[in-house]
Amino acid sequence: MATDHVFNPEALEGSHSESRPEEAPFENSLRPTHLGDFIGQDRIVQDLTLAIQAAKGRGEPTDHILFSGPPGLGKTSLSRILAAEMGARLHATSGPALERPKDLVGLLTHIERGDVLFIDEIHRIPTTVEEYLYSAMEDFSVDITLDTGPNARLITLPVKPFTLVGATTREGLLSAPFRARFGLFERLDPYPAAELIRIIQRAAGLLDMEIEADAAAYLADRARGTPRIAGRFLRRARDLVQVHGHGKLHFDAARETLDRLGVDANGLEEMDRRFLQCLANQGGGPVAIKTIAAVVGETEDTLQDVYEPHLLRCGYITKTARGRMLTPGGAKLVGFQFPTQGNLPL
Ligand SMILES: Nc1ncnc2c1ncn2[C@@H]1O[C@H](COP(=O)(O)OP(=O)(O)O)[C@@H](O)[C@H]1O
Ligand SMILES: [Mg+2]
Repeated sequence: MATDHVFNPEALEGSHSESRPEEAPFENSLRPTHLGDFIGQDRIVQDLTLAIQAAKGRGEPTDHILFSGPPGLGKTSLSRILAAEMGARLHATSGPALERPKDLVGLLTHIERGDVLFIDEIHRIPTTVEEYLYSAMEDFSVDITLDTGPNARLITLPVKPFTLVGATTREGLLSAPFRARFGLFERLDPYPAAELIRIIQRAAGLLDMEIEADAAAYLADRARGTPRIAGRFLRRARDLVQVHGHGKLHFDAARETLDRLGVDANGLEEMDRRFLQCLANQGGGPVAIKTIAAVVGETEDTLQDVYEPHLLRCGYITKTARGRMLTPGGAKLVGFQFPTQGNLPL
């Protein structure tokens, strides 16, 4: 069957500042289209290969799949790859777009046997809509009420067997019964530098750009384990190479690119530094995320999805019940000194 993608890229690029709408066409051009092009996440690739082979052998759609992990690690790419490998049509939407049950029911009625329904930011589906999704996932039917008042009738609408693929940056916000309805649950982790180097080299090839090994390593070390960030670096670097007329991306151009972007040796950007500075200004914390958001001028969601995971992983901050705190490592970065205790006058 031909892959007829019923695809709306606009619906896919989430609200995160890391995934800027103007970069969507660029990102799409770098997206791996087959499991064989997908670099890293070996366990997930193995799971999907097996699931696809088995489903094809049975002539059935695969189990419902949930991808979770920070933005930019490849959730959307894997969802598209799954549909392509299954030779299935892909219907794409997002949690916030499914505002009312009828938005979902409308989509479900267009689904043909074997189609893939991709729901990005699935944690943002309203509870009222989630319940309809349960029965669609489990029984391949939904109960809908027609008319109101004395004429109200309940009808059961059959849904053709399909695969639901959900993507979320916050699996913790999904209810347990919802999570239990996914047969496969795949968590994406940040990529080690060696894999990011391969991702950068592959992307450079697609962009018709030559890149030196030390330049690729320099960019990979500062990309926070995230292919989307690596891709963004490369796009900027390409501009620089073009303007300077070097023809090849050398180490110096890689360094200049990141200097211009304000990315430091730890891969931290302006917003990360503001975040740490905000904690420092409050005596190292704890500071509530709401307060941080107001001070640094970014939404709570973006701070939690995009910036915090990296700061936590690097050990620059900790999360407590009362808010975020600076660690000694984080304090050092912003030149903050914790007040020494125990030397108060007796
Ligand atoms: N494993 C990978 N190999 C190569 N490129 C990747 C990989 N994972 C992600 N990318 C690239 O990173 C960008 C972001 O990936 P995407 O699937 O949109 O992430 P997510 O949906 O998790 O936010 C895309 O341009 C994609 O080409
Ligand atoms: Mg995505």
